[in-house]
Amino acid sequence: MQKFTITGGRRLRGELVLQGSKNSSLPIMAAALLCCGEAALHSCPKLTDVYAASRILNCVGCKCSFSGNTAVIDSRSIDSTDIPESLMHEMRSSIIFMGAMLGRAGSCTVSVPGGCELGPRPIDMHLSALRKMNVDIRENGGAIVCRAHGGRAKGARITLAFPSVGATENVILCAVTADGETVINNAAREPEICDLCGFLRACGAEIRGDGGSSIVINGKQQLHGCEYTIMPDRIAGATYLSMVAAAKGELILTNACIPEMEPFLSVLEQTGCSISTFSGKIYLRSGTRLKAVKDRIRTMPHPGFPTDAQAVLMAALATAEGTSLFEENIFDCRYRHTDALVKMGADIQVMGKIAAVTGRERLHGANVEATDLRGGAAMVTAALCAEGRSEISRICHIDRGYEKMEEAVRLLGGDMRRV
Ligand code: UD1
Repeated sequence: MQKFTITGGRRLRGELVLQGSKNSSLPIMAAALLCCGEAALHSCPKLTDVYAASRILNCVGCKCSFSGNTAVIDSRSIDSTDIPESLMHEMRSSIIFMGAMLGRAGSCTVSVPGGCELGPRPIDMHLSALRKMNVDIRENGGAIVCRAHGGRAKGARITLAFPSVGATENVILCAVTADGETVINNAAREPEICDLCGFLRACGAEIRGDGGSSIVINGKQQLHGCEYTIMPDRIAGATYLSMVAAAKGELILTNACIPEMEPFLSVLEQTGCSISTFSGKIYLRSGTRLKAVKDRIRTMPHPGFPTDAQAVLMAALATAEGTSLFEENIFDCRYRHTDALVKMGADIQVMGKIAAVTGRERLHGANVEATDLRGGAAMVTAALCAEGRSEISRICHIDRGYEKMEEAVRLLGGDMRRV
């Protein structure tokens, strides 16, 4: 099992080109199933979750090839509508293949993706929305057997109880080739939803309203292949900015999605860093000790503060002057990284959905285990500004979402190795 070793305390300085978005790549790869042709996806990050998505596509008969950061998916012919449990379990977001398979073939057999590091991850909203689209869904043991009546899903008016990203994506994927109009009310407004819709429009789909809370889709008989560039990863961006802010350095982040990162940038700016943006680049300078953030940092659906950036910002604030308060409103178990940060000397008190972080002038290196993707990134952030050496194990979590994180950190002058 690989580990990261990090010797902290170095100033980080330099320029990084932001990777393509993980949370866009996965639904867009699922959407490639719908185009019955060839989809060339540029800026596709090389991540274990992306390879897991390509294994799902292969297993239903698509051909996937990778060349640099371009993925080519040929979905002209498929020969199966079943996704085995072992593949469904490799990645929690495999559930979005349910909507895509229904859109392509009118039926599929998948399985419950199971619980995860962030707590139980129910799919009730996905199932009830698809049932409204005339899809019969039976749960049989661990299997979920789905069949659209008459072989094609029907457009419907759907109001989500919560703006779930995955449920919004599943409905969109099923609706673009369904019979008639689908309206999704209380839809997720995350930028990755707009990216998915951008890809689908390039394949000939008719969608409007994405980015707002009502999305309207007119189903088409068939979509076609296209070439598309995946948006930059706003969470990887938030991670590298947090690392450099905590390590009192300077960063030029290129290929950044500035408007989409605004909810994070506006909070990071309150720590006293200097942040400026110009033509797709974010410049960050952090000369002195960070200041605590005065207002409570509440994770909320977009355009609120992203839950995926909570852990990395918390690691940076662990050395700030004063106390910052976090309120996690999206997931029940999203403070599992705090024990590792405390082991590194952080002062963090967790009370239910609140975490109070009182900055310590110095953290110290420690041997810790990544608990989940963003929690692992938070441990790297803390280790980079801690005194001494840290070892981070279970880095398979980190590899799910960051393309060669150790190389990016070394490019900035950090001492981080994969052993
Ligand atoms: C996506 C992102 C993830 C991010 C999250 C919230 C991907 C691959 N993952 O996850 O990185 O942290 O959005 O921005 O894009 N819920 C239900 N029932 C459902 C569906 C969701 O109760 O049927 C709950 C979840 O348990 C969670 C909340 O709703 O508490 C938000 O989940 P959701 O927006 O669906 O997140 P994901 O799509 O799983």
